[in-house]
Amino acid sequence: MSHIIKINTCVAFDEDAEGRKTTIIRQCGKVKMLEDKIWNLEDLDFDQSFDVHVGIAHTRWATHGAPSQLNSHPHRSDETIEFSVVHNGIITNYSDIKQFLLKKGYKFESETDTEVIAKLIKHIHDNHPDLSFRELVEQVVQQLEGAFALALKSVKYPGQCVVARRGSSLVVGIKSKTHLATDYIPVLFSKESEKKKKPDHRPCHSSTIPNSTASLKRSESTTEFCPMGEDKEVEYFFASDASAIIEHTNRVIFLEDDDVAAVSDGNLTIHRLKRTLDDTTGREIITLKMEIQQIMKGNYSSFMQKEIFEQSESVINTMRGRVNFERETVVLGGIKDYIPEMKRCRRLLLIGCGTSFHSAIATRQVLEELTELPVMVELASDFLDRNTPIFRDDVCFFISQSGETADTLMALRYCKMRGALIVGVTNTVGSSICRESHCGVHINAGPEIGVASTKAYTSQFISLVMFSLMMCEDRISMQPRRSEIIQGLKTLPEQIEEVLKLDEKVHELSKTMYDKKSLLVMGRGYNSATCMEGALKIKELTYLHSEGILSGELKHGPLALVDQNMPVVMVVTRDPVYPKCMNALQQVTARDGRPVIICEKGDAETKKHAYNTLEVPHTVDCLQGILTVIPLQLLSYHIAVLRGCNVDCPRNLAKSVTVE
Ligand code: F6R
Repeated sequence: MSHIIKINTCVAFDEDAEGRKTTIIRQCGKVKMLEDKIWNLEDLDFDQSFDVHVGIAHTRWATHGAPSQLNSHPHRSDETIEFSVVHNGIITNYSDIKQFLLKKGYKFESETDTEVIAKLIKHIHDNHPDLSFRELVEQVVQQLEGAFALALKSVKYPGQCVVARRGSSLVVGIKSKTHLATDYIPVLFSKESEKKKKPDHRPCHSSTIPNSTASLKRSESTTEFCPMGEDKEVEYFFASDASAIIEHTNRVIFLEDDDVAAVSDGNLTIHRLKRTLDDTTGREIITLKMEIQQIMKGNYSSFMQKEIFEQSESVINTMRGRVNFERETVVLGGIKDYIPEMKRCRRLLLIGCGTSFHSAIATRQVLEELTELPVMVELASDFLDRNTPIFRDDVCFFISQSGETADTLMALRYCKMRGALIVGVTNTVGSSICRESHCGVHINAGPEIGVASTKAYTSQFISLVMFSLMMCEDRISMQPRRSEIIQGLKTLPEQIEEVLKLDEKVHELSKTMYDKKSLLVMGRGYNSATCMEGALKIKELTYLHSEGILSGELKHGPLALVDQNMPVVMVVTRDPVYPKCMNALQQVTARDGRPVIICEKGDAETKKHAYNTLEVPHTVDCLQGILTVIPLQLLSYHIAVLRGCNVDCPRNLAKSVTVE
């Protein structure tokens, strides 16, 4: 039997046939570089030395310490590597723990927060050698504050692996040659927790770290249970994201906060030290619909390019089974029962980060129009910084591709505690935002692997438009507008196909821009979000400075930036703010600016003022932003390629930002 533990492979670890020896292999850079290093290690013969494989691995997004070999995971307890750990997240009280361990004589090798976990578990083990591996991890986890998904290995416990999560996502994959004996893994509680039902969030001070037998009780959740029956051919995978393991299995369990899962002797058990009020008695094994092809690049040079080109299809998947174009009805099954309550609400709040926040901006106007409710759009981090007042009759939407973004999740919990109705809008089934929402919309865009979000944006956009259509279904006065928007949605996929044909023209254009220092993107009204989103794509992918400027603000400052050398892209479409956009255009050309204009096909009048144009098909004003954003996605992609940037993994960024 073999177990492979994989958390976005970049640094790997393994053990020998007796499980007594560990090897840590670290490499900065791409996963491929690690792979090459492993196969080229002279003193390592995998076939001879490693017939039992229990590996842990991690691609790290540096929160503490620079990205270097020394700071790479796994971190070890000591030179003999009794314990090693990989960690996704951030330990906020690591410096208290480190001080405590330094006083005990532990020496630290890295600048990371994670290393304290490896040292702390050894410290507890040395004082309590009778504890099982899983019990040791439970003791460690109780001392940690912050967000974490951990996977640990130890030579003291060969063939075992223990994982735990709080705040960061962690999924268990189960692969079996035979039919699994169960769809459900019961959660085992310690007897201690039966007595004490309230969660205990003790701050970790060095004095509370257990170092004497007296301060530490052995957990009593010792019920032996073999969830997979007699099936010894089961392989287990732990990962921070299901897409990392889908090539091995589509049968997964999403662990909950404070779960500790252990694989020992071929058995998976899930434990909880503390019982909380909403605890369920088990974790369901879910079959994912994700296909391996969905996470392969196919003929594209990058995932981002593939995802841009998938949009004509992903928007269909977002609407599939929800919009009936003949009857002009829209039903979002995940929220339909809550619509009456939503209609009575005080206001709608749309909360997210980055691109997800932009999808809220893009749809605010149509939401205000069709729901006739006040709509606030909020950046999750800023919303929390302000301690924004929230009321029981507020409806709060949390928009997140990953469903794991820490700021958005914290904002969700903040609103939930205050009694608001919580609606998740995510692309990831089983994600924390999905699970913690009262109801929600799955945007069905399919897995998005490129760090820069593209197809999730257009699907979030459509999901929010569909919601606004549901909210006005019974308003007679709004039927003509509803009908116009629904018919607009119907033609969107083929119009997206048409926009994608601009690729070569955008490529040519990118050659005139890639060596510049800055790029301004201007527009207003329904296209404000396009400008902000376009500028975000440019800066994150190309490392050029870029700003999305609402043209109404031009003369209040940004116009000073404009001259013949400053690349400017302007979005000018035939919507109610067209005259104002033309005014902005004249302000730019009067300063010798040479704007590239994204305009509607055949708009000769607007084209007269352009240095160059990218023409997109005309659609309903409130949907036009879906078509105007795609040329900017393509532009950022081509500039990034010309500048030699890593399109799928821009520097310093991560796909799932699970730290605040
Ligand atoms: C930009 C981008 C980010 C994310 C942001 C929120 O291309 O991808 O700005 O949109 O980190 O992520 P989610 O949507 O997963 O909450």
